[in-house]
Amino acid sequence: MAKTTGKLELRALTKEFGNGSEKVVAVKELSLTINPGEFVTLLGPSGCGKTTALRMVAGFETPTSGQVLLDGEDLSALTPDRRPMGMVFQSYALFPHMTVFDNIAYGLKVKKVSTAQIKKEVGEILDSMNLAHLTNRAPNQLSGGQQQRVALARAMVVRPKVLLFDEPLSNLDAKLRAQMRIEIRSIQRRLGITSIFVTHDQDEAMSLSDRIVVMRNAVVEQSGTPEEIYRRPSSVFVADFIGRSNFLSVAEVKKGASRKVTVEASGVKLKVNAHPKALKSAHPHLLVRPESVSVKKSSSSSKSRKANEGVVKNVVFYGNHVEYSIDTPTQTIAAVVSDPVYDEIVPVGAVAKIDFDESRAWLLPSDSAVITSEE
Ligand SMILES: Nc1ncnc2c1ncn2[C@@H]1O[C@H](COP(=O)(O)OP(=O)(O)O)[C@@H](O)[C@H]1O
Ligand SMILES: [Mg+2]
Repeated sequence: MAKTTGKLELRALTKEFGNGSEKVVAVKELSLTINPGEFVTLLGPSGCGKTTALRMVAGFETPTSGQVLLDGEDLSALTPDRRPMGMVFQSYALFPHMTVFDNIAYGLKVKKVSTAQIKKEVGEILDSMNLAHLTNRAPNQLSGGQQQRVALARAMVVRPKVLLFDEPLSNLDAKLRAQMRIEIRSIQRRLGITSIFVTHDQDEAMSLSDRIVVMRNAVVEQSGTPEEIYRRPSSVFVADFIGRSNFLSVAEVKKGASRKVTVEASGVKLKVNAHPKALKSAHPHLLVRPESVSVKKSSSSSKSRKANEGVVKNVVFYGNHVEYSIDTPTQTIAAVVSDPVYDEIVPVGAVAKIDFDESRAWLLPSDSAVITSEE
């Protein structure tokens, strides 16, 4: 069900806390348009401004400058309870003295919906979220996952135009977290509610989002689909934050006639796609994800090995994949081989031939801050 309302615009949203030497810029000129029904995730390390951004959208924090518009209307003058938004927190924030039913009914009661109508609407949402058998329980009689589902039902029952999630799954164990992701996404899709989801967990962002906005130090570092963020990161920071990476130092860059460039990395020439800024960068890096590195046994000895060969430092068999660390003359390379044949696994101490899938490699501009912090 595609909706036509629920378009959210953040215009140069800025929040500063304190003043003088104590001043903290929590969010700096965050501009973002979220289409009706779209699911956008703000992703970034702790302290980068995600919660503050979300709280400005909800109205709990007054922006230092900038606006939030919903379907073209400036929300600045509206207190949080007047905004057509639902919010779900990490700490489920249920009312401890109320039953599941009353927790969910609360928003409707505030809106002075009739008792009969409340019964009907709460009943429907309890059914759709498999909570009907828990109707009369108190929150302390529920598991974490059940509490979080009640919190979600409570946010949605008022039919908000926008749903805001602040790390709602962080307190759940890994299995439940994965299950709740699927549940949240399927309900959000069914109802077509515009959503902003805040997390520092890259798997969560990748698996939930139409679009990911990566934040760093109060500003947007990159915004794009999960695939763009993973395959075409705009900086070493983004590449490093999303998934595992090898950053190969590049000896030579030549621009070809096509859009691809030829680079020399680890002694081999590769034709790769490049970020526009990489060509102007003094020390570009070649991003190769571990799953784009193939590993084969080599007959070379560790003394006679070639440039594209290395000594296996570590190998771990996980059943459905194998993870390698391989020492080359210039650096250690991480490789992930899926669906491995057990007999073909290269053991620790043996020489392996490494090949990089050039179609999946990506040339990046250097990003001194992150490289330095890794030393
Ligand atoms: N009420 C506040 N007063 C002062 N500083 C704050 C306040 N809330 C957040 N900050 C600061 O703003 C920055 C961003 O915080 P926050 O939005 O909570 O980040 P995140 O949710 O990404 O972890 C941090 O440096 C944090 O210490
Ligand atoms: Mg936060």
